[in-house]
Amino acid sequence: MSDTVDSVIVAIDGPSGTGKSSTSKAVAAKLGLSYLDTGAQYRAITWWMITNGIDVDDAAAVADASGKPVIVSGTDPSHPTITVDGVDASGPIRTQEVTSKVSAVSAVPEVRTRITGLQRSIAAAAPHGIVVEGRDIGTTVLPDADLKIFLTASPEARAARRAGELKGADVSATREALVRRDAADSTRKTSPLAKADDAVEVDTTELTLQQVVECVVTLVEERRAAAQ
Ligand code: DC
Repeated sequence: MSDTVDSVIVAIDGPSGTGKSSTSKAVAAKLGLSYLDTGAQYRAITWWMITNGIDVDDAAAVADASGKPVIVSGTDPSHPTITVDGVDASGPIRTQEVTSKVSAVSAVPEVRTRITGLQRSIAAAAPHGIVVEGRDIGTTVLPDADLKIFLTASPEARAARRAGELKGADVSATREALVRRDAADSTRKTSPLAKADDAVEVDTTELTLQQVVECVVTLVEERRAAAQ
């Protein structure tokens, strides 16, 4: 377990649309932990590349620029924030353009080294522990996390959830885009989307958000009890 009896590090990984963000925020709020959305950080660096005229398909140019943007994440689960060079990026990072380009940027090793360093320092500074959501948290960023969860769901359920979030987007087009992005994220060379050997897999297809949250909270409490 982490530094104090109460401090706990929870890694929640999985593909898009499995409920990672909603689950992670709710678990963190319930347990009084900090929360970090690592996808938002990759989206933020992608947005910076686009607004600074960097061709995201030019890996060398992306690598050269990867140290430039100053990305700051606020870790309150009830009000997560993200700024790039002091500018609120929470809206711009959710655009279709960023979503379609984030896999290319996040596949560049220099980008991953930079963002992974940020993630580790945020996790180390969290006073009571943290829930960190992403794709490679349990495998690479925080391999010593106290609890690792890998969320899955059928492509249909994931597409329906994402289309709902995007308010009326076409479900089959959303499914195609999502499957394409997961394939890119799972097959990249550096730190791909993967389940850690010691992660607990939770299939959320037939579960409500509340059921998933209860399941993860129970697992955290079990780990805490076992560590005492
Ligand atoms: O969780 P999200 O959809 O906002 O993530 C956006 C992208 O960021 C995702 O397609 C892959 C990348 N990502 C990553 O490579 N590693 C992480 N730990 C989190 C996200």
